[in-house]
Amino acid sequence: MSLAKPLRSSSTGALKGTLRVPGDKSISHRSLMLGAVAVGETVIHGLLEGEDVLHTAAAMRLLGAEAERDADGVWRVRGVGLGGLREPAQVLDMGNSGTAARLLMGLVAAHPITSVFTGDASLNKRPMARVTTPLEQMGARFVGRGGGRLPLAVVGSDQTIPVTYRLPVASAQVKSAIILCGLNTAGITTVIEAEPTRDHTELMLRHFGATVTTERMADGALAVSVTGQPELTAREIFVPSDPSSAAFPAVAALLRPGSELVLRDVGMNPRRTGLYDTLLEMGGSIAFENRRDQAGEPVADLRVKHGPLKGVVVPADRAPSMIDEYPVLAAAAACAEGTTVMLGLKELRVKESDRLSMVAEGLTRCGVKVEVGADDSLTVHGTGRPPQGGATVATAMDHRIAMSFLVLGMATSEPVQVDDGAFIDTSFPGFVGLMNGLGASIAEV
Ligand code: S3P
Repeated sequence: MSLAKPLRSSSTGALKGTLRVPGDKSISHRSLMLGAVAVGETVIHGLLEGEDVLHTAAAMRLLGAEAERDADGVWRVRGVGLGGLREPAQVLDMGNSGTAARLLMGLVAAHPITSVFTGDASLNKRPMARVTTPLEQMGARFVGRGGGRLPLAVVGSDQTIPVTYRLPVASAQVKSAIILCGLNTAGITTVIEAEPTRDHTELMLRHFGATVTTERMADGALAVSVTGQPELTAREIFVPSDPSSAAFPAVAALLRPGSELVLRDVGMNPRRTGLYDTLLEMGGSIAFENRRDQAGEPVADLRVKHGPLKGVVVPADRAPSMIDEYPVLAAAAACAEGTTVMLGLKELRVKESDRLSMVAEGLTRCGVKVEVGADDSLTVHGTGRPPQGGATVATAMDHRIAMSFLVLGMATSEPVQVDDGAFIDTSFPGFVGLMNGLGASIAEV
């Protein structure tokens, strides 16, 4: 990522139109990784071609798989078979992507190869001990910087042992890293999660022919088990639109008077839809049309219309199903009437940026009254009138902070500027053009 790209968003008229936001980032990473260890050619329709996912594609090539894009945008991955990844001759650069780094560390941990992982300045600050601790228990070794940060080397093994591991944090990335290591480990590997997190790894593994079971335990936790060393068969994958990306135009439409948008083919996996439940509770007009299943994942078309929103309390147990959506929810809350309290946001501190601080700082600059609680809660006081805006907001290499404040700028009295929109390309290439095509006014400064 090179030069900073400041962007300014101003309020305009209504947003109108029908659109399809890019493919789901979580599913895209997983389709490349599983395609790379399956036997045969996996064909992927609708892969997100954001920088995060392109880093995964490059890493899978360095590990021996073929991953190419056809002229028509379809991706073809020729897998090496489980256990067949080769030692990469270059450092694996995962860019800005925690998902790419953590999941791939799990996959290579159960291969007898040594790989070196690095990332950009944001990723190299993020905690990795949450994955290296269980993967070490399974038999992999890690050599890295103090505090378990990237760059680090993974010394994998083909003699890994299965574990039963209770997640200390609600994290699909950690769950998936362990499952992906368990995939090439003889025996049954089990991850216990107290709160259900996104299950794309489990769903896609079944799609490729692996045995993955989920069992509810006496204390209500879920035990997810994978039977090691299956034959994975190449598959056709249809990646739904990313509900986390759809969140930006959806909230923009709720905020801009007169707006009506139809968002097509949006992933509706119930472990991802917490934002939409919350917006409905706030009084948002969102209709879910044409609900259907697409290659194992539920999808729908969303019809979103402008209307007044009211403040709500968002319970902590909803966090895993909307973990990436709090910044844009905070933008909606700033324009709602009344107070919104979001509980249980500790994990927001270790995302692409410390999102809890970045959101609170940015909203304060825009004239919104907010409080961050000692319990990692965020309280946003909406007045039902447009916030002032008229500020430049720091984004700290975080795509979702950038997009959330550009959405806020569509509803504030004065424009909102973000200091760097370059990182939007990690998850939502074409965001500015798409939003402007619907009636937004976002310009380079
Ligand atoms: C992701 C899981 C979430 C989320 C990230 C994508 C995934 O992270 O924030 O954007 O694809 O598994 P955690 O699992 O660490 O909460």
